[in-house]
Formats: sequence, C-alpha cells, structure tokens
Amino acid sequence: MNDSDYKKNIVVTGASRGIGLATVKYLLSSGHRVFGLSRQNLHAELATFSADQPGELHWYTTDTDLALVSQAVSGVLSENEQLDGLIHNAGLLINKPFSETTEDDWVMQFEVNVFMVFRCTRALESLMGPGSHVVHITSMGGVQGSSKFPGLSLYSAAKGAVSIFTESLSTEWVDRGIAVNALALGAVQTEMLDEAFPGLEAPVQPAEMGGYVADFCLKGHRLFNGKILQVAMQNPA
Ligand SMILES: NC(=O)c1ccc[n+]([C@@H]2O[C@H](COP(=O)([O-])OP(=O)(O)OC[C@H]3O[C@@H](n4cnc5c(N)ncnc54)[C@H](OP(=O)(O)O)[C@@H]3O)[C@@H](O)[C@H]2O)c1
Repeated sequence: MNDSDYKKNIVVTGASRGIGLATVKYLLSSGHRVFGLSRQNLHAELATFSADQPGELHWYTTDTDLALVSQAVSGVLSENEQLDGLIHNAGLLINKPFSETTEDDWVMQFEVNVFMVFRCTRALESLMGPGSHVVHITSMGGVQGSSKFPGLSLYSAAKGAVSIFTESLSTEWVDRGIAVNALALGAVQTEMLDEAFPGLEAPVQPAEMGGYVADFCLKGHRLFNGKILQVAMQNPA
C-alpha cells in the first residue's frame, strides 16, 4: 500500500469551529480517520458533513477524563495501527493590556494554550510511534522578533512557550521517531479573530488554513522536525 492509500489516524483538538473544524473536514474528505476533541457535543452540521465523506469521525468531549479519551482512541485503532497525527489546535485569546490582567487571566490563558497541550500529549503519547507527527498551532505573536500587538502579551507568551516546547520535545522524542513541529499562524478569519479585532479582514479563510494544517500534519514530518514554521504572508499578518 503506498502512503497516499493509507488511512491515517489523526487527533484534532478544538475541533468544533474555526481552523480546527476546517482541518477536520479536510481530513475527512481525504479519507482519514479523525478523532475530534472538543468541549462541545458533535454539532449537526459536522455530523451531516462527515456522513457523506470517505473518512471516519470519532468525537470526544474534553470534559471526559483524557485517560478515558486515550483508551477510547486506542480501542478504535486496530492492532497494527497507531496515532499518526496529533494537532493541538484548541486555543483561547485573551486581549487585555497586561496592567489590567488578573491572576485568573494568567492561569486561564496558560491552562488552555499550554497545559492542555501538555495534558493531551501525555494522555496520547503511548499511542504514537515512529512516523507519528505532533503539530502545535501557535501564532506569529509567539515568534521571537515578530511584530507584537498591544493587549496580546498573555496570548503571545503562551504561544511562545509552546514554540519552545516544540523544539525541546522534538529532541526528546527523536529516538522514538516522533516528529514535533509548530505552525505559527498569521491572521485567519475566524471567531477568535473577529472577537479580538472586530472589523479586521484577514487574508486567509479557515478552509484554506485547515487544508494546509492537515496536509502539513500528513506530510510535514518527512521534511521537518523541531521547527517553528511561520505561516503568514507578512508580519504583522
Ligand atoms: N485566527 C487567527 O487569526 C489565528 C492566528 C494565529 C493562531 N491561531 C490559533 O489557531 C488555533 C485555532 O484558532 P481559531 O482562529 O480557529 O479560533 P476559534 O474559532 O476561536 O476556535 C478555537 C477553538 O479552540 C477551542 N477553545 C476555545 N476556547 C477554549 C477554552 N477556554 N478551553 C478549551 N478550548 C477552547 C474551541 O474548541 P471547542 O469549542 O471545540 O472546544 C475552539 O473551537 C488557536 O490555537 C489559535 O490561537 C489563530
């Protein structure tokens, strides 16, 4: 079986909307098996979409213990299969001048954008092996030396933490054959962007970015490891 025929097993977090939803749809339309992780129940639009696709969708809500999610994913995989991709897409953007932030904001920002990444990785790492690819969705704001926006200090710091985690984890896992990369995205027209920057028109729509993220997860580990790739036409994006 050549690589393009092989149905891959991919986890996508934050799967209910925006870039995550678009990534899930692209993978399903390409015939892969997707494990969507979300705080939400599977919504009707995605259920209807997935029913018409060659791929297969499994849905888990993240209020379930992640150890149970891992067990459930493991139960779907057949004996000779592994988790081929883990796309850490879920993210929260707190847009507030640092001087007005509270400790609750700090904790919440790092809880969603950093600790959830750690937690999902630890819960699912036993299902991965040689050829698996972990993809962190970070942001141009988390890249050293990029233009920064007032109000995004917490968000950018959290994304920066995940970028450095990418480099560090990739060296730890090189002997296991598991690649770890980060995509530092520029602006994409999603609810997150609309809420943070009302009226801003992004040059990229979720469907296009979702397709790119999915393709990168499927193929990027053959060319990259431990890299933080900037996916933006310009900076500021
Ligand atoms: N849009 C941009 O311009 C842009 C630029 C750079 C980077 N990014 C990154 O791209 C990723 C996707 O963002 P998006 O633009 O598609 O945003 P979005 O439409 O707001 O979607 C973000 C997803 O993250 C999950 N999420 C949000 N708040 C959460 C919370 N408090 N706890 C747990 N999960 C939460 C949600 O998933 P569920 O509801 O399914 O749980 C949601 O579907 C994020 O990591 C974001 O930082 C976006």
